[in-house]
Amino acid sequence: MSTDQDLLTDPYAVYERLRDTAPVHRIAGTDGNPAWLVTRYEDVREALANPLLSLDKRHALPGGYRGLALPPALDANLLNMDPPDHTRIRRLVGPVFTPRRVEQLRTPIRQTADRLLDALGPRDGTDGTGGTTGAGGAGGTDLIAAYAAPLPITVICDLLGVPGEHRRDFRTWTDTLVAPDPTRPQAAKEAVVAMLGFFTQLLADKRKRPADDLLSDLTAVRDEGDRLTEDELMSLAFLILFAGYENTVQLIGNAVLALLQHPDQLNAVRADPARLPAAVEEFARYEGPALLAIRRFPREDVTIGAVTVPAGETVLLSLSAANRDPRRFTDADKLDLGRDATGHLALGHGIHYCLGAPLARLETEIALAALLERFPDLKLDGSPDDVRWRPSLRARGLLTLPVTF
Ligand code: HEM
Repeated sequence: MSTDQDLLTDPYAVYERLRDTAPVHRIAGTDGNPAWLVTRYEDVREALANPLLSLDKRHALPGGYRGLALPPALDANLLNMDPPDHTRIRRLVGPVFTPRRVEQLRTPIRQTADRLLDALGPRDGTDGTGGTTGAGGAGGTDLIAAYAAPLPITVICDLLGVPGEHRRDFRTWTDTLVAPDPTRPQAAKEAVVAMLGFFTQLLADKRKRPADDLLSDLTAVRDEGDRLTEDELMSLAFLILFAGYENTVQLIGNAVLALLQHPDQLNAVRADPARLPAAVEEFARYEGPALLAIRRFPREDVTIGAVTVPAGETVLLSLSAANRDPRRFTDADKLDLGRDATGHLALGHGIHYCLGAPLARLETEIALAALLERFPDLKLDGSPDDVRWRPSLRARGLLTLPVTF
């Protein structure tokens, strides 16, 4: 059995061993209970679309799964649901996130990116006196805190209609939930209570003062008919805000790091920015932010690979192991921005395929385009070995990304 520690320090090395020797493997799961970890591309893809694998915790063995306990008002979300409830809710929000609708956000997203970059340094990267300036000029800037995080939080909060003053709180709570601090076991519970209060107040405000935003629209849908329960409404708001922020920050950060570690490919993208949309697919494949899909529970005994997984046990599908599977991608451990990375599983597959995929792609593309245009001398501040990843079995993202301009 691989230890959590191996998976934390070098997940890709563990995945490689598992894919070759034990592609459906019993491990200590993220909640401490036994789980089955699936690592080969074909197995993961098939399992993601297998209707026998439920996301509803009621299909877990009693006491067999001890994930984070969320109150019903946050828990009744798409990622804990199967059809027909999942289908009903997905139909309500799906139209908001189609590529065509999302493309309309291109200009506002670019404006937000430019505004954040303005705060880091002037347009040409100099101070007008011949020297380099901006926060990165002296001692480096943490690009996660200054750019990769505020961009997606601003975009998703604008879309939903979350007022500016609450955005920082929300970031603190999500950070606490995604990478809990072992020295502060109470912190996750406190963050959940705070979030619940936040969403209760937010929806009450939308009812009092509806505006031109997604939460006002969803609140109206809830109040007009029987298509959403109150718990579902609040849980949907929570999921969109959480998912819309968390993974996108990491993908932007991971992509910038990958570029800075591969100067030849960085130069190629700088020379031809039209390559960026395809590059985003490769960044998602190579260093996607979701190491694991949401846990699943077999409704009955199922065979995955050649292994029978008993009903009710926890199944963890490793999206990152699948995306590095040499059976599917040639030289899978290599970043190759020229490759066709479509078919990667970084955004899932099947009915739970990422609702926000078009938005995630657009934001990452714009974040990179704006950054590279603005700072022709962007560099890592320090050695690549100093880079620190968040201690998480499910999320692949940087704690900080120190750069100079
Ligand atoms: C780079 C950024 C993103 C990544 C890597 C990502 C990844 C994923 C993955 C892997 C799933 C499927 C989980 C599973 O089946 O177990 C998913 C679902 C979902 N994502 Fe994303 N996501 C990203 C950005 C976003 C954004 C911007 C939104 C905002 C709307 C969003 C909203 C959702 C929602 C609501 C679901 C649940 C869909 C369902 O169950 O039908 N995600 N995402």
